[in-house]
Amino acid sequence: MSEPARFERIDDVGVVTLDNPPVNALSLELRSAVRDAFAEGMDDPDVEAFVLTGGGRMFSAGADITEFASGRSNEPPTLRDLIDLIEDSPKPVVAAMHGNAMGGGLELPLACHGRVATEGTRVGLPEVNIGIVPGAGGTQRLPRIIGVQAALDIIVSGKPITAEKALGVGLVDEVVGEGGDLIATAVKLAKKLVASGEAPPKTRDRDAHLAEAEANPSVFDDYRKSIARRARGFDAPFACIDCVQASVEKPFEEGLAFERDTFQKLRTSDQASALRHVFFAERQASKVRGIDSDTAEYPLRRGAVLGCGTMGGGIAMCFANAGIPVAVREHDQAALDRGMEIIRKNYAATVSKGRMKQAVMDACMARITPTLDMEAAVEDADIVIEAVFENMELKKEIFTELDRLCDANTVLATNTSSLDVNEIASVTGRPGDVLGLHFFSPANVMKLLEIVRGEKTSPEALATALTLSKRIGKVGVVVGVCDSFAANRSLYAYTRQAGFLLEEGALPEQVDRVIVEFGFPMGPFAVGDLAGVDVGYKIRQHRGRPEGRYSDIADKLYEMGRYGQKTSAGWFRYEDGRTPIPDPVVTDLIIESSKELGIERREISDEEILRRCMYPMINEGAKILEEGIVQRASDFDLVWLYGYGFPRYRGGPMFWADQLGLDHVYEVMQGYYEEHHDWLEPAPLLEKLAKEGGTFGEWASK
Ligand SMILES: NC(=O)c1ccc[n+]([C@@H]2O[C@H](COP(=O)([O-])OP(=O)(O)OC[C@H]3O[C@@H](n4cnc5c(N)ncnc54)[C@H](O)[C@@H]3O)[C@@H](O)[C@H]2O)c1
Repeated sequence: MSEPARFERIDDVGVVTLDNPPVNALSLELRSAVRDAFAEGMDDPDVEAFVLTGGGRMFSAGADITEFASGRSNEPPTLRDLIDLIEDSPKPVVAAMHGNAMGGGLELPLACHGRVATEGTRVGLPEVNIGIVPGAGGTQRLPRIIGVQAALDIIVSGKPITAEKALGVGLVDEVVGEGGDLIATAVKLAKKLVASGEAPPKTRDRDAHLAEAEANPSVFDDYRKSIARRARGFDAPFACIDCVQASVEKPFEEGLAFERDTFQKLRTSDQASALRHVFFAERQASKVRGIDSDTAEYPLRRGAVLGCGTMGGGIAMCFANAGIPVAVREHDQAALDRGMEIIRKNYAATVSKGRMKQAVMDACMARITPTLDMEAAVEDADIVIEAVFENMELKKEIFTELDRLCDANTVLATNTSSLDVNEIASVTGRPGDVLGLHFFSPANVMKLLEIVRGEKTSPEALATALTLSKRIGKVGVVVGVCDSFAANRSLYAYTRQAGFLLEEGALPEQVDRVIVEFGFPMGPFAVGDLAGVDVGYKIRQHRGRPEGRYSDIADKLYEMGRYGQKTSAGWFRYEDGRTPIPDPVVTDLIIESSKELGIERREISDEEILRRCMYPMINEGAKILEEGIVQRASDFDLVWLYGYGFPRYRGGPMFWADQLGLDHVYEVMQGYYEEHHDWLEPAPLLEKLAKEGGTFGEWASK
């Protein structure tokens, strides 16, 4: 095995190169090798300075996060040991960064005596995303280098910045442009530091930048307020602020100890383990049975979208935003004009909020070609996405035509929300090319993309769809064919119970409050008002009344013309168009409904509301998992995280259920089943795992 760090000399500068592909993760082996390399240079009287750099694609993506769970991150030399070694080095050390310098991979350079980076290098402290704070001095050194405000922006958001921006805030000393030599530049800086004759400057001693915050301590509370909404429920962003505050209020060593304690506390917290789970879930989702790196893919040069309604318009925007030219086809001019106008307005709104440049909007609009001509729309497309009305006969007609018009090796996708993708594929002579691409509304915003694999979908078509999902910035989750797929099928288990809770004694404002307090951005009734009470009604009309018990209060709202936000009244009333206000008219309607059903209304606890909404949804998730509709439990977690805003710091419904204990979830479900019957019967998988003491996570990975 090769050493994970190399040492070589350029003149009288020792160059230490991290060499632990693919991302130079700071594993125990790498840390030991770096320590040894520095020791070699320290002992060599001919070495006057060091350059620390990364081999391969990047400087370093940071800690090896599997070591957090195993505890190996605490084995010496720890990252902090290495950092002390560098900061205290009597011979100056210059970091030479390219690609990424993230997390621990930036904390190392922060302790160096100079920093250079190639253009486009991304530097950042993303620890907050996995529920922790930087644990090797990042929160203490970064403010000393770039000031409190800029440090808070980087640490609390977890978002990387480019080398060019880093230069602007003083995080790097020099940016090496295209054609420049990174190592030579770093060597030059190292020699300059030697030539100055002064002891290498220690970051820990650089207090000048802290003065501004010292003089204005309210900066921290202001920052807490500014993230209060966005970070509601998350511990780590607030802990990051506490740590940066400590850098100002405490001596360096104490600040470091504070950061250390905070890091240790968070590392073992439920939130951190949930967020680590999400981190791995996202990476797992693209590992799909039957597909590997050898699977051929179709090119993705052009797309075509059929239908420019609510979904089609948003889908076309996804292509345009990703730089892929796309044709949108409508069946009449008025609908086409209307659809294109909505797209234009959507972009214009983003421009007017300052979130997009006019030139970018113009370029996006130019990538979308509206047309009435089906053949022209699809003839050069590598992927066609059908988003016309939810009607099987119409979809079959369209796929018959696509079969005739499209070249071989074109992915033929349907955006159907509920129809049988196998049946749609059956009208073509190439069912291998057919799959579902189930976007969520608004399609240009929502991150989830259910990729529906039909019985005959080919690995090539599926691999192409997965690549598309990445290119358009979606979280693609492969699901199998079943009524309404994984997301909407399990959503129904949730909203259905929410409806029954009203009949039994709760009110929409109580249910929504409990769900929001749990961490969702909105409760089911506010969501109903946003999506449109009329939309839900029409879907029920079209699909027929669902089996089993059924709450018809939503239908009554529809009959009263209360369609939700668009009519300023639905489950709630609205004065400003978006803030739900409880409405006595709805309270009366609900009480009347209970009476009609002969149900004596009772006090319903917050706990019961949460369990009644969540556990049946998890139970449905267990069926979806056991039927193989999703490949693994974490895929179902992603569906809820990205489709419906399940709180990320709880990891997703299946992860959460595993934490609660499946014996408990099963017992509660069994109780509901005995009381309410209906389709609350515990799923066989839930029962089995509860009795065996298993978890969804482990079961799925077997
Ligand atoms: N609205 C949602 O939240 C949502 C979410 C996911 C999936 N879907 C699915 O997406 C599809 C479209 O839904 P929508 O909400 O965008 O409907 P929509 O009514 O807003 O749009 C459908 C569009 O298709 C056009 N159209 C009809 N026949 C056509 C044809 N032969 N060729 C080209 N265009 C034609 C219509 O003129 C209309 O503009 C449906 O299958 C629906 O189930 C909807």
